[in-house]
Amino acid sequence: MARVLVAFASREGHTELIAHHVVRQLEDRGHLTRLINLTRHEGEAGADDYDATIIAGSIHVGSFAPEVLGFLMRHGPAVREHVSAFLPVSLSAASHDDAEIAAINEIADRFLFEAGWQPEFVEHVAGAVYDRELNAVERTVLHMIMRQHETVPDPSGSTVLTDWGRLDEFIGAFAAKL
Ligand SMILES: Cc1cc2nc3c(=O)[nH]c(=O)nc-3n(C[C@H](O)[C@H](O)[C@H](O)COP(=O)(O)O)c2cc1C
Repeated sequence: MARVLVAFASREGHTELIAHHVVRQLEDRGHLTRLINLTRHEGEAGADDYDATIIAGSIHVGSFAPEVLGFLMRHGPAVREHVSAFLPVSLSAASHDDAEIAAINEIADRFLFEAGWQPEFVEHVAGAVYDRELNAVERTVLHMIMRQHETVPDPSGSTVLTDWGRLDEFIGAFAAKL
């Protein structure tokens, strides 16, 4: 049984769902977990006392929330000591366009270089579009991007692009290292 820290930053709430899913899956495998919501600046006391770390953050206009880098600035030495994973969440991760995939790889690589972090796993996860969380311009732009990906926005206003099966495969591979 390992102790796994899962920290996340989420603007529209989907990375939060992903982080909760990761935690549930790890707990089902018998591991102890702790979840830290970086967006809400939750307490980080004891955050260095874990056997493994997973950090998830969504991409907005080509960047991760500054709270993700802030966490690594404070806890990087502990995170670097053990097995770790980075989960960038984006719309482009659902794309079949090589240029879009290359772009998110570059965004993640640049971030990891800046943070001085080389996680064992970098798993890009396709995100979601929740119309209620967006202003009119954001909604129009994201619907246009989805249509370019040949995805029809869900009439319910929640279009979830995450491949949960693929995420579970990643969790299995990560858990195998614990
Ligand atoms: C204003 C805005 C900007 C975004 N910029 C990007 C982007 O540059 N690249 C991308 O692939 N996805 C982009 N997205 C899509 C988000 O990464 C995706 O909706 C993700 O699920 C958001 O996760 P969150 O709910 O945890 O914040 C953007 C979304 C919004 C609303």
